[in-house]
Amino acid sequence: MPAAILTNSSDKVRSGAPIAFLDSGVGGLPYLQWVRVHLPEENFIYLADREHFPYGPKSPDKVFSAVAGCVEKFITAFAPKLFVLACNTASVSALERLRRTFPAQTFVGTVPAVKPAAECSKNKRIGVLATNATVHAHYFDSLIETFASGCTIIRVPGPDIVNFVEKKFFTAAPEEKLRVIAAAVNRFREEGVDTVVLACTHFLYLYPEIHAELGGGVRLIDSREGVGRRVINIVSSFGPRAQAPAPRIPGLYLSGGWSPEPQYAFFAEYFSLELAGTL
Ligand code: DGL
Repeated sequence: MPAAILTNSSDKVRSGAPIAFLDSGVGGLPYLQWVRVHLPEENFIYLADREHFPYGPKSPDKVFSAVAGCVEKFITAFAPKLFVLACNTASVSALERLRRTFPAQTFVGTVPAVKPAAECSKNKRIGVLATNATVHAHYFDSLIETFASGCTIIRVPGPDIVNFVEKKFFTAAPEEKLRVIAAAVNRFREEGVDTVVLACTHFLYLYPEIHAELGGGVRLIDSREGVGRRVINIVSSFGPRAQAPAPRIPGLYLSGGWSPEPQYAFFAEYFSLELAGTL
């Protein structure tokens, strides 16, 4: 795999080379937005891998091949200085293998925020809302063993919510948003959890609805700030930036050769991105 031998040269990391965000779809956009606000001088690109969407029902091998294909495309087209897997499923299924396959690249993963949840839960009953792949991942089991061994973890997969956010978020009526989260919210209520982890990046779009439906007594946790701070630390470790032109408007790229569905223009506008085409 020739891409694996490209080096992350110091010129590249200090220059205007972009920070690349990847997800199966639009889930990583709120993560990109957080980092963009905190690192306004950097360039960014984003790839929604709609060709392989959704990742949640796929095996770790299939998720790895999909994400590795995206990483190769980005290396060839843009030589990014850093990759952010703004996707829990890709991170728990494929991050270690990606690091071995592309040793010259730097990756930041997104993992379910089990550690902060265990630290703030009082009754030690924690709900985790994620994809099928994430709730069944070995990596997720080991996170629980390491950081939340004294807690009861209620794992709830939400594949319909992923699909809803990707395809209907901008056109859905408020009651449709409540309907799609109802089963998960009811389960968490029945189980008496006091903390819920949003362990799929797509679910951040429905944070206000999930928060309101769970009620004030339940804390809702996501990993956006944790991932964002990790990106800031890594970019600072690259050293001072060489002189570079002002940042460009980040490009939202889509995998798959067909023309973009209408919702991607909405997402691009909402996050002030350029709908840059297919890769
Ligand atoms: N947004 C993704 C995650 O954080 C994956 C959703 C999917 O493609 O199933 O897990």
